[in-house]
Amino acid sequence: MEHLERRLPVAFLLLLPLLSVSCVSNQKTTVSWCVLSDAEEQKCLDLAGNATARNIRGTLQCVRGLNTRDCMDKIKNGTADAASMFADDIYAAGLCHGLELAAGESHNGVDGISYYVVAMARRSSSDLSLLEMHERSSCHPGIRTTVGWTVPIGYLVNTSQISVGEQCNFPKAVGHFFGYSCVPGVKDPQHDPRGNNPKNLCEACIGDENDRHICANNHRERHFGEAGALRCVAENLGDVAFVKHTTVFDNLDGKNQESWALDLELEDLKLLCPDGSEAGLDEHERCHLAAVPTNAVVVRMEDKCRVWKYLERLQNVFGNTTEGFSLFSSAGYGESDLLFSDATHHLQRVLSSYTSWLGPTYTTMLQAFECEGFC
Ligand SMILES: *[C@@H]1O[C@H](CO)[C@@H](O)[C@H](O)[C@H]1NC(C)=O
Ligand SMILES: *[C@@H]1O[C@H](CO)[C@@H](O)[C@H](O)[C@H]1NC(C)=O
Ligand SMILES: *[C@@H]1O[C@H](CO)[C@@H](O)[C@H](O)[C@H]1NC(C)=O
Ligand SMILES: *[C@@H]1O[C@H](CO)[C@@H](O)[C@H](O)[C@H]1NC(C)=O
Repeated sequence: MEHLERRLPVAFLLLLPLLSVSCVSNQKTTVSWCVLSDAEEQKCLDLAGNATARNIRGTLQCVRGLNTRDCMDKIKNGTADAASMFADDIYAAGLCHGLELAAGESHNGVDGISYYVVAMARRSSSDLSLLEMHERSSCHPGIRTTVGWTVPIGYLVNTSQISVGEQCNFPKAVGHFFGYSCVPGVKDPQHDPRGNNPKNLCEACIGDENDRHICANNHRERHFGEAGALRCVAENLGDVAFVKHTTVFDNLDGKNQESWALDLELEDLKLLCPDGSEAGLDEHERCHLAAVPTNAVVVRMEDKCRVWKYLERLQNVFGNTTEGFSLFSSAGYGESDLLFSDATHHLQRVLSSYTSWLGPTYTTMLQAFECEGFC
């Protein structure tokens, strides 16, 4: 590992002139974007038409993909050139298809971080350490979500608190590890085809007002989602909730009118840090399980520069408009986050590899799931 890191910068300096040359003297001027829905296709076509009307060099084409995996295949074999993808898919695109990134979204105007995953507990719970969670109770936004599953379970695997063995059965290992939990959706046939996922993974769930839909993978389960996981800890059913660093602030000060949220006070909560210590709620930058990156534009290695240059021209004209076509808005198309997240402030160039974009902590979390056969 160390050797690799020392060699990288050198390899990089050697590559840079090559990249810029291939970028300037490039024959191909069309960029075909892989889109996933009618609404996204429409926004792509509008962008293409507006780009042509404004004489922006290059041509945008819109190619319809069946799903994200299909878009990866199309980019790999040249049927498409680019698509915007979220973190877990970027990992698969890089690992399984050797694809890279041309650009990434910046939401705050500074970096490419979307949010931090934090572990939240009641301040009154003493003797609680993330390094000793055995038999404790936990609240998760949902099965197979980044915040509620990939990151916390990846952390427990990396710190050797759970081990899935050769069976690679994550729900079983997690159920044996925690005392009881709420992992909405863990008993859904889709995630539990044999019906033998541990029952205790639903024991901190409460269902709806009539005790129905317990452990459902939707809002009828009142402990579902990030607000639901926070509620689960606020109501003393769980010792720890895995949520975003913004979750608590999104539910305070009357923003959430449910009684558990109105009763909640900032002073009642604390963060648990991966090194076993604890911290205040505003200390997420140093006390988090992972910094999850924003979406980024997946391309073939040789297209990194070419696609970036084209995107740069597009965002110079359509990135910050108050009238006419707007690159980072999906208003009028009936869906959100089309082509890019609506929260995007600007696109930044990605010169480094996809693993640097994902960052070391998040990459470690994803590696914990390698036995599931990512590709
Ligand atoms: C430009 O975009 C708008 C939507 O913002 C769309 O209505 C219009 O048709 C587009 N223009 C062209 C020439 O495609
Ligand atoms: C490229 O991959 C896509 C998706 O798998 C497939 O539909 C298409 O036929 C392939 N095209 C070529 C030229 O191989
Ligand atoms: C967008 O435009 C507004 C007003 O013209 C300006 O204040 C702002 O800094 C611009 N933002 C970017 C990212 O260029
Ligand atoms: C993974 O575990 C190792 C050893 O316990 C630790 O040094 C490292 O910081 C952990 N990585 C993450 C991302 O938590």
